[in-house]
Amino acid sequence: MTRSVFRDETILLQEYLPHQIPHREAQLKKLELYFQSVAQNASKASQTVMITGPVGSGKTMIAKKLLFESLPRKAALYGNLVKVLHVNCRIDRTLQAIMVKALKSLGQSYPTRGYSFEELLTALVEELRSNRMHLVIAFDEVDSLVTSDPTSLYTITRLRELAPGNQVLSSILISKTTDYLKKVDLSTLSSLQWNEISLDGYPSEQLFDIINSRSEAFTDGALDDDAIQFVADIAAVYGDARYALDLVWRAGKLADDSESPRVLPEHIRSAKASLPPQLRKEELTYLTTHQKLLLMAISALLKKGDSTSVTIGEVEKSYTALCENMNVTAYHHTQVWSDVNELSRKGIIETQLSGKGVRGRTTMIGLSLVSAKELMGELEKGMVADVRA
Ligand SMILES: Nc1ncnc2c1ncn2[C@@H]1O[C@H](COP(=O)(O)OP(=O)(O)OP(=O)(O)O)[C@@H](O)[C@H]1O
Ligand SMILES: [Mg+2]
Repeated sequence: MTRSVFRDETILLQEYLPHQIPHREAQLKKLELYFQSVAQNASKASQTVMITGPVGSGKTMIAKKLLFESLPRKAALYGNLVKVLHVNCRIDRTLQAIMVKALKSLGQSYPTRGYSFEELLTALVEELRSNRMHLVIAFDEVDSLVTSDPTSLYTITRLRELAPGNQVLSSILISKTTDYLKKVDLSTLSSLQWNEISLDGYPSEQLFDIINSRSEAFTDGALDDDAIQFVADIAAVYGDARYALDLVWRAGKLADDSESPRVLPEHIRSAKASLPPQLRKEELTYLTTHQKLLLMAISALLKKGDSTSVTIGEVEKSYTALCENMNVTAYHHTQVWSDVNELSRKGIIETQLSGKGVRGRTTMIGLSLVSAKELMGELEKGMVADVRA
């Protein structure tokens, strides 16, 4: 049997809940403090905490550390029974489905159809009360729930008012940005009282520590500091720990394929080439029609040309032409500008101020995550229906 550079590759899996969480200890502590009152006084306290941050910044990880490790344990010390549930709202797409899941986690089985949300909620609250339990639900990727049902947020944040003096539910809302709040009406917004933990993408030094903390996945000497640094530098462009860990794992696989006892720079380069940090296709469906049109204009220009970026002026011209073609009224400069900023904040495009050149300073736009061709393909699929709507 050939030897492997891995000692235990499961340590690099995305689902693995690490013991060490470099550069997130303070944020986890903060989260734990927010839930201190629930642990201590489960029937009197209820909490709503929002966690935001870009892709791979550790949002799901710190939520799970709280839910599956510290909180139930701490609550038990105070003689309280705290149950936890983590749901991904892209998978469980309605509050009803989430209630069914919550009931199931308590051993109560309800069909996914046939009961209204209110009925399910009443059953859940009853169940929790009669067992003197408090349930904390983490609504991961909550933006997709709120986008499809704007009242859901109101409902979630009002859970604590169901039974003042006898609290049974708390929630954690996880999302990349707070953009989804824009779709929520003002009276809901003003009734929301939550605490926010906002995470940043990881710079290279922090990614180094994160990869290093998972290096027991490798046999001794198979992944040296130079290799770790190389991966950290590549992934730092995105600040994404998931990408960094995927890259390390894939590089290890390539080392094994070539029967190398160590991960070499060439394995990392090949892994990088084979693994573009995926632009999530779902991400595109949340964009407005005009943002999609802008993206199409950008991809078309980039695909045609041989440069890595185009000016905002060129983009605007091509976008206006595209709108005309599709019989859509084009937006004016200010709105185009703000959409470009939004796309850039979402990490789909990259904007940069050009150096003082022939044309003076201008904003240059490039694609960060995918090839122009791939993006065009995705956009075209959704666009026809979109423009007709
Ligand atoms: N500080 C850290 N230390 C160790 N591992 C980390 C750290 N931050 C993130 N990771 C790991 O990186 C991966 C991605 O983290 P996580 O799933 O929490 O990202 P996320 O912020 O939820 O991203 P997304 O928005 O894409 O869901 C996970 O495997 C996680 O264990
Ligand atoms: Mg996540």
